[in-house]
Amino acid sequence: MNINSTITLNNGVEIPRLGLGVFKSTPGPETEQAVIYALDAGYRHIDTAQIYRNEKDVGEAIRKSEVQRDDIFVTTKIWNNNQGYDKTLRTFDESLGVMGFEYIDLLLIHWPLEELRKDTWKALEELYKNKKCRAIGVSNYTIRHLQEMDDYAEIMPAVNQVEFHPYLYQKDLLEYCLQKNILIEAYTPLTRGEKLKDENLLAITKHYEKTPAQILIRWCLQHDLVTLPKSVHRDRIIENADVFDFSISDTDMKMLDSFHENFRVAWDPSDVP
Ligand SMILES: NC(=O)c1ccc[n+]([C@@H]2O[C@H](COP(=O)([O-])OP(=O)(O)OC[C@H]3O[C@@H](n4cnc5c(N)ncnc54)[C@H](OP(=O)(O)O)[C@@H]3O)[C@@H](O)[C@H]2O)c1
Repeated sequence: MNINSTITLNNGVEIPRLGLGVFKSTPGPETEQAVIYALDAGYRHIDTAQIYRNEKDVGEAIRKSEVQRDDIFVTTKIWNNNQGYDKTLRTFDESLGVMGFEYIDLLLIHWPLEELRKDTWKALEELYKNKKCRAIGVSNYTIRHLQEMDDYAEIMPAVNQVEFHPYLYQKDLLEYCLQKNILIEAYTPLTRGEKLKDENLLAITKHYEKTPAQILIRWCLQHDLVTLPKSVHRDRIIENADVFDFSISDTDMKMLDSFHENFRVAWDPSDVP
């Protein structure tokens, strides 16, 4: 496994295992610079969203870099205000325009809005059929939301992007997605920094010449997930990608798995009907 390693989605598209997240990267130079640092460090996967208000900067950075657009995997997500069939189609075009792209690699529904998620999915299917995006998926879907798709989806999602780290080891969801050939993308892999000083994590970190952040990222990779650490700092962007020259032992993987405590740093979709 290395930084160029990919996983094949259920429609045959290859997705790089490691991506740069840009949630809370300030729109403007900060995001643009972070993406450039990441591309320089070898990342080929960027995860943005309409609500991050930095799609434009992601597009600019990619144009400025020496890496070809086709060699970079870009994800964006339809925000809640933009859900519904017509609005999704319209605002997807706006996103494309803002980014200056002909297509998006992966388009996600950001959140399973009860009243609108079905119509929004129909719009994503339309965009996929029209080759405006190479893959479509969902985010923050529980098993229930995915099961419901059996009734209305013509195309099943390629991806479910959810919060996932040792402190929120969503085993049932992972097993369900594996069964259905839906890839889990792990967001907030670093717990937004909240658990980086956890004693149990530090104890495992001691077995390797690696940082707690690198252990958390490697844990996702060894579970065969795609993961999306965010940083705007060059040294951390490099650090977060320096995870391909070691592996966590089976014993330590099991220990990390046991950290699960239903701890969340982001929104919880469990109660969304
Ligand atoms: N679909 C969704 O609903 C959803 C929700 C949340 C996140 N996401 C995606 O997942 C990505 C990652 O999640 P996230 O940004 O919320 O959290 P995260 O990646 O778990 O943590 C990011 C935080 O950790 C810091 N950090 C980064 N690398 C570090 C390192 N090596 N050592 C110490 N601290 C480090 C960052 O600070 P600096 O930037 O200052 O370095 C930032 O404060 C997002 O950017 C977004 O693309 C999706």
